[in-house]
Amino acid sequence: MSDVHVFPTFDALSRSASQHIAAHIQTVLRENDTYALALAGGSTPERTYELLASGFPSIAWERVHIFWGDERFVPSSSARSNERMARRTLLSKIDVPFANVHPIPTDAGSPSVAADRYNDHLRTVFADRDHTFDLTILGIGDDGHTASLFPGTRPDATDADKTGLPDGRLVRAVEAPAIYDIRDRVTCTYRALNASTEVVFLASGADKQQAVARARAGDPDVPAAHISPRHRLTWFLDPGAAGEEA
Ligand code: 6PG
Repeated sequence: MSDVHVFPTFDALSRSASQHIAAHIQTVLRENDTYALALAGGSTPERTYELLASGFPSIAWERVHIFWGDERFVPSSSARSNERMARRTLLSKIDVPFANVHPIPTDAGSPSVAADRYNDHLRTVFADRDHTFDLTILGIGDDGHTASLFPGTRPDATDADKTGLPDGRLVRAVEAPAIYDIRDRVTCTYRALNASTEVVFLASGADKQQAVARARAGDPDVPAAHISPRHRLTWFLDPGAAGEEA
């Protein structure tokens, strides 16, 4: 199931996305002890994280576990770190226990060692589950990449299996194309992202319009087109990203 919502402004998009995520957290925690939320990097989610941190005092953050869909292989103190962005906009403002925050270990010696460690960690944390994240937040690049799955990467046949915790790699080290200044990345794989119950895409601005349209049309050359979670995928767009700008 895929829903699309277009909002007149970026702030309205972010506000509605934060409400959607908060509602999903509260719904799942009514039936389950814990909740697994995977965060996106980049700049688009920042406002959503700030609103999520400030607007929903009733969320039981002590039962929420925080993960990342991908990370740039930089120290967590770096201004380019997805972890640092999330700590600044969300984690530093909510009562989430230290042990509930699961960053990608960029202090490991290499991207492949970091990927192996995070892969093993996710396998351990999700050992008793039939899915990975309850909700994954994703952005999209103007080339159609999502997380750090760049054009040229294709899912394996089993990557959209709809039952059970998938076998195989959940996390990989990847090298971003040469146009990116930070090329060393660690990313969740298609199978890890597709084993999420829900995915929320956030996209803003006319420079994303073509990538969003191709992803929604299922263009196989667009990595975001291969995201197919277990239950629901929702696009939160502004007029520019939706191609509705006058
Ligand atoms: C990253 C992200 C990446 C991001 C897109 C969109 O580490 O950069 O995870 O996939 O979501 O590049 O980035 P913007 O939101 O900044 O446009």
